[in-house]
Amino acid sequence: MNPVYEKIVDGLADHGYAIADHFLSLDEVRDVLATDAFKEELLHFRKAGIGQEKIINEEIRGDYIQWLDLHQPDPAMTVYVNRLKELVTQINRNLFLSLKDIEAHLTIYPPGSYYHRHLDRFQTHDHRKLSVICYLNETWTEADGGQLRLFLEEPLDILPVAGRMVCFRSDSIEHEVLPGSKNRMSITGWILDQFADLRHL
Ligand code: OGA
Ligand code: MN
Repeated sequence: MNPVYEKIVDGLADHGYAIADHFLSLDEVRDVLATDAFKEELLHFRKAGIGQEKIINEEIRGDYIQWLDLHQPDPAMTVYVNRLKELVTQINRNLFLSLKDIEAHLTIYPPGSYYHRHLDRFQTHDHRKLSVICYLNETWTEADGGQLRLFLEEPLDILPVAGRMVCFRSDSIEHEVLPGSKNRMSITGWILDQFADLRHL
């Protein structure tokens, strides 16, 4: 198995989460950022809602999202989508699961926005098994904030640096996004145990 997938599979099996740097190369990150959705930036992004009702509540989360049509991905997204599909294959094979599908959106957190502590699970359906986030921020340092904080035995803060992928169990690992000083961009996705429909598009 490719060592990147092996690291993720082992991390999920042992700890319920994994961090993989260089999941996308810098060139691949730049290709994603050059897609129309990101070029037109915040204009294109509609306010992210909370839960299935899409209630807009800036007290809880302040990000802007754009759902991706994974059946007809933009060419720049295909590289990432194919890598996620390969990850699903490896997870199923090695952890004896039968995960079925992926859903994902582009995400921008404007400066100062955050997402309070939560679990990635809707109350009315819980088909999200793994959360998968890949960061797209080339010049991000500790001073910029915007860490993803996983609430493990000890809180673990993860900087959203370009190419880094974080994967964790959606049903059991609480997490939050701390406010940052710049636009914080990512591809946020979930691996599901049933086939996604087009409800988000
Ligand atoms: C989410 C989320 C974390 C991150 O969108 O549910 O928790 O680091 N995102 O962007
Ligand atoms: Mn989340």
